[in-house]
Amino acid sequence: MFIKKEINDQICIITIDRQDALNAMNPDILRELDQTIKGCISDQSIGVIIITGAGEKAFIAGADIKVMQNLDSKGALEFGKLGQEVTMTIEDSPKPVLAAVNGFALGGGCEISIACHVRFASENAMFAQPEVKLGLIPGWGGTQRLPRIVGKGNATELIIGGHMIDAHEALRIGLANKVFPQDQLLDETIKFAKLILGNGPDCVAESLRCINDSAGHSLIEGLNLEVEAFSELFGTDETNEGLNAFVEKRKPDFRN
Ligand code: CAA
Repeated sequence: MFIKKEINDQICIITIDRQDALNAMNPDILRELDQTIKGCISDQSIGVIIITGAGEKAFIAGADIKVMQNLDSKGALEFGKLGQEVTMTIEDSPKPVLAAVNGFALGGGCEISIACHVRFASENAMFAQPEVKLGLIPGWGGTQRLPRIVGKGNATELIIGGHMIDAHEALRIGLANKVFPQDQLLDETIKFAKLILGNGPDCVAESLRCINDSAGHSLIEGLNLEVEAFSELFGTDETNEGLNAFVEKRKPDFRN
């Protein structure tokens, strides 16, 4: 068991704990992470998921290089697809998945962080797609998601340079949403999770779906998807509660 799960006040903190390898991901840990996230998605008592790494040094130092050393092309295809499946589980989650990046987020670790909906980083966090230094290219979504988050130019620089950037550079290019001292990272991430929990869960899920869909559609198609989702909310308990609460000058109660 390399994944720890702690649930408090509708927030599930998933910690990847393989500190002797800086939380590098092998196939077993990938499967465990996938199952854990799917479990959180189907658990009604959970509203927000946070992913972080154990220790103060690494979020995830990437795919397990010692595993990859022994892969042939067929094995690499399976390993790549498994990692991509996990990133899709994260990205498609109707419940927000926040990355608390507490150290190295390298290769597959950076790719798992960019599948998350929001990234908060500690001051000591370091991001990189260093695959080209290993004779590889990113395999868990880096070439596809990174340009969508930081733009094609910044993503190209990171992917073909393979160099690390610190948390402040990650903030500057939009890879990190916010940066905090390490001892405040988890508390600040939980604070944001609590903010989300005050909002309508279906509205949050629909917002995530529309934002995700924006990547694969033209502006007109995306606007159609958005207005359909917008209109379908009308008449639901959640939307009635939100609109009525505003007019009645009270706080909405979406989750009870
Ligand atoms: N896979 C396997 N083991 C890893 C690892 C990884 N990605 N990263 C670190 N480790 C292991 C090290 O081998 C070492 O184990 P041993 O003590 O048994 O030798 C242990 O973690 C501690 O690491 P270091 O001694 O190297 O620690 P350091 O502080 O000197 O350096 C580091 C830290 C700069 C992160 C360095 O460990 C490093 O460069 N790691 C590799 C990072 C990397 O290249 N990641 C990308 C992998 S490719 C990928 O992810 C492909 C993809 O797109 C899916």
